[in-house]
Amino acid sequence: MAQDSTDKIAKLKALREESRLGGGEKRIAAQHEKGKKTARERIDALLDKGSFNEINGLMKNRHTDFGLDKDKIPGDGLVAGFGTINGRKVCVYAQDFTVMGGSFGEVAGEKVARVMDLAMDAGVPVIGINDGGGARIQEGIYSLYAYGEVFYRNVQASGVVPQISVIMGPCAGGGVYSPALQDFIIMTQGMGNMYITGPEVIKAVTNEIVDHETLGGAVTHTTVSGVAHFLGQDEDDTFHIIRKILEYIPDNNASTPPVLPTNDSPFRADKELNTLVPADPNQTYDIRDVINRVVDIDSFFEVHHNFATNAVVGFARLNGESVGIAANQPASMAGVLDINSSDKIARFVRFCDAFNIPVITFVDTPGFMPGTHTEHNGIIRHGAKILFAFSEASVPKISVVTRKAYGGAYIVMGSKHLRADMSFAWPGAEIAVMGAGGAVNILHGRSLKDKDPEEAKKLRAELVADYEDKFSNPYQAASAGYIDEVIIPSETRQRLIATLDILRNKQSTSPAKKHGNIPL
Ligand code: HXC
Repeated sequence: MAQDSTDKIAKLKALREESRLGGGEKRIAAQHEKGKKTARERIDALLDKGSFNEINGLMKNRHTDFGLDKDKIPGDGLVAGFGTINGRKVCVYAQDFTVMGGSFGEVAGEKVARVMDLAMDAGVPVIGINDGGGARIQEGIYSLYAYGEVFYRNVQASGVVPQISVIMGPCAGGGVYSPALQDFIIMTQGMGNMYITGPEVIKAVTNEIVDHETLGGAVTHTTVSGVAHFLGQDEDDTFHIIRKILEYIPDNNASTPPVLPTNDSPFRADKELNTLVPADPNQTYDIRDVINRVVDIDSFFEVHHNFATNAVVGFARLNGESVGIAANQPASMAGVLDINSSDKIARFVRFCDAFNIPVITFVDTPGFMPGTHTEHNGIIRHGAKILFAFSEASVPKISVVTRKAYGGAYIVMGSKHLRADMSFAWPGAEIAVMGAGGAVNILHGRSLKDKDPEEAKKLRAELVADYEDKFSNPYQAASAGYIDEVIIPSETRQRLIATLDILRNKQSTSPAKKHGNIPL
């Protein structure tokens, strides 16, 4: 009997070893030659040492067409399970490029679905490592079924558990849509590519010649398309970014983010803030200087750093508590709101709201970008997303107008009218329906045109000064109660922390509905 069970254990060990080897030593070596880790090595590098529990490691594909009857590798090109990252429980899966190029078939789909169901039951984040050639062609529609099952779960899990995707190799065809449905995408530079159709198909269909990196590399997607949120310099840096994201977010929508004790006093008043915004409204400054001086030291962690740089979004801490920051960036295109920055802000605010992370908004924008390009590409529907996101968000919302807040942009950037819980303005804030020059042109353009040019110039200057005096300041808004308090910039940190504290148990209700219809 004892001999028997030893044999059985030996058989299991052999099967596990076969599964561990995936596509075999040669293909593992080829993966290493490309400077890439294997799926298992990646999971080991990401998770706490020894914490990985594999599941469905012995599943094999059930197909026979195109030679699949001869190619039955236990695990079938996808490694899945759960473990911990800095003690936080997570579910994880990784495509194994050594098995048929990490292509995604029926079994891969069922394995991902299984860990996603587990993540939902357990209420923990799910992390996917992508490195594969898309739908497994030999399996035909069964690979489409596989993708469909995963996409459906991505949507069910959206707003319930955080979903993070890493792109560390090809991610083509159907492979792109599961990451696209998740909360954050991190692409590894020089390794990750994402596209629906690759360069060969593009050449065949449109005659356009483009290389993989230009089409869908990490730089392209973190700067031009905004599909990816972070660029990892290499595999280690990519995993570091995942660990960092987890520091700011909760396990699920019913819990709150971790609190990190800080030595940074809640009463720290940074006097530099008082002179940071230039007196000349046409001069710029970097909103990150404001953010970094207000939040806990070294806590600001930017999301979408290189995409739509006229807005800045990211996580930070205030007295140890996680907050989301949404800001205009005067240092880029004067902080104007355009299509991409609208999408960037709206999406981030919705993530924070879904996962109980209060939103702090820093406002300095001259308004929406004018022009036919912007209008024809739908700034109306994109700008409306910010309105929708802020109005819908029920987490604590606090806004700080550092300088310009004109017109519609004033309303959309987390104003009191969209139910900011508290709105602050700095003394140099200009809160008005439009800039003084434009206002005078509209109100007095005709009468000025009829005057002698010298006289008109002088009168125009007087009218502009008068408008600025009356409207380009925070006091009209403060007297109307639209700004709760005009504060000295150095008081900002203390004010935000105290306000977050009073709002700790904020309850908010909205009308019963199935769901809203965000402009897409
Ligand atoms: C089956 C695949 C595969 C796939 C690659 N392989 N992609 N097997 N289905 N989709 C296999 C190759 O045949 C090869 O097997 C091995 O994986 C490694 O591939 P190579 O081409 O040698 O590697 P490399 O040169 O690094 O190129 C990787 C690649 C390329 C860029 C991913 O293989 C590629 O372009 N594949 C096809 C990508 C694609 O068009 N996918 C879309 C599928 S349709 P051997 O045995 O020769 O080593 C789709 C639609 C679904 O996804 C829509 C759902 C909504």
